[in-house]
Amino acid sequence: MAEVKLCNLDKSYDDGKTYVLKNINLDIEDGEFVAFVGPSGCGKSTLLRMICGLEDITSGELFIDTSKVNDMPPNERQVGMVFQSYALYPHMSVRENMAFGLKLANHDKKTIDERVNDAARILQLEPLLDRKPKAMSGGQRQRVAIGRSIVQEPKVFLFDEPLSNLDVSLRVQMRQELARIHDNLKTTAVYVTHDQIEAMTLANKIVVLSPLAEGAESNLEQVGAPLELFHHPRNKFVAGFIGSPKMNFFKGEIIETGSETSRVMLDSGEVIRTCNDTSRAKAGDKISLGIRPQDAISEASGDNTVTGTIQAVERLGTESFIYLEQAAIEDSCVLRVEDSRRRENGSNFTMGIPAESCHLFDSHGQSFVRTKAPHFD
Ligand SMILES: Nc1ncnc2c1ncn2[C@@H]1O[C@H](COP(=O)(O)OP(=O)(O)OP(=O)(O)O)[C@@H](O)[C@H]1O
Ligand SMILES: [Mg+2]
Repeated sequence: MAEVKLCNLDKSYDDGKTYVLKNINLDIEDGEFVAFVGPSGCGKSTLLRMICGLEDITSGELFIDTSKVNDMPPNERQVGMVFQSYALYPHMSVRENMAFGLKLANHDKKTIDERVNDAARILQLEPLLDRKPKAMSGGQRQRVAIGRSIVQEPKVFLFDEPLSNLDVSLRVQMRQELARIHDNLKTTAVYVTHDQIEAMTLANKIVVLSPLAEGAESNLEQVGAPLELFHHPRNKFVAGFIGSPKMNFFKGEIIETGSETSRVMLDSGEVIRTCNDTSRAKAGDKISLGIRPQDAISEASGDNTVTGTIQAVERLGTESFIYLEQAAIEDSCVLRVEDSRRRENGSNFTMGIPAESCHLFDSHGQSFVRTKAPHFD
């Protein structure tokens, strides 16, 4: 087991002409499960491959435990990598697939048998040890791929979207198995995923990366516990990225600043009171107001409401998603309501926006602190 420390890591191609990662600083503690999330192409796999040693580090320092490993070859770093494609040897049994790396490293037969049997027990693969990969399901094969890594007893597990080839129900099952395996082994893990639910449920800590913008100092947007990112996103990028369906944004400006509550006017004229500290701003400043699809109140009236026109309704039985059009909406607006009543496209829908559910961002996308956000551990 080990801690991993990234200090000012940069990655560029073409002699520094194309930067992909800039100023990545991160402390991964011993035994932690850390997820890297971000849009396609933001550098998640590249960063993981830099930790693994499959990708050069342009500048900065990488430590595993107390050793600086920038120039250490992958096989000496004692990391175990599990990829999306599990690439098992088709002519070998599960046992042989798991033992192969240990044989290559000249471990004795007793050690190999012990480690393979232990891994098979943890992964519940004991009944399948003599099977060939083609006679197994995708989930079972992926467990063998994880087993191949476990037997190496790595200090750190590195996963790159290990479940993305599996169908939905297998993913759910494997997600729970990964949580169980991590509980069991407590090996430090870094996990790249597109799947928010995987990140939210497996990780103690989520790292949000963005595609590196021209002139940006870094593309590391925020590091924090899953619910911290959900309730207290540091900026609009994280707010829009974490949570599904994504947060709705409205354009507007501040009309009254305050350290506890503030008032904003949307571009469509509605005045909304919010629980945000805007003492660093002034009246007239442009803002974006964010509200999550499940936080708006269905068919409200009175203060703090916004009326839009229904564009489409998706009725799912216990809940519905309502897509609205309204002049101040930035991208699109979706609301989740807990009924499946029939609603006509083109009709008006008034939603209530509770002051304590509002997220507020300045014109640079930086959050104003929420003064009444839900508490979490
Ligand atoms: N040899 C290269 N030269 C220039 N750019 C490269 C090179 N290799 C990769 N890149 C760029 O690096 C960026 C990061 O790639 P990476 O595979 O790390 O993204 P990712 O976040 O894992 O994306 P995905 O979610 O699609 O897997 C991409 O924009 C890619 O085009
Ligand atoms: Mg990738």
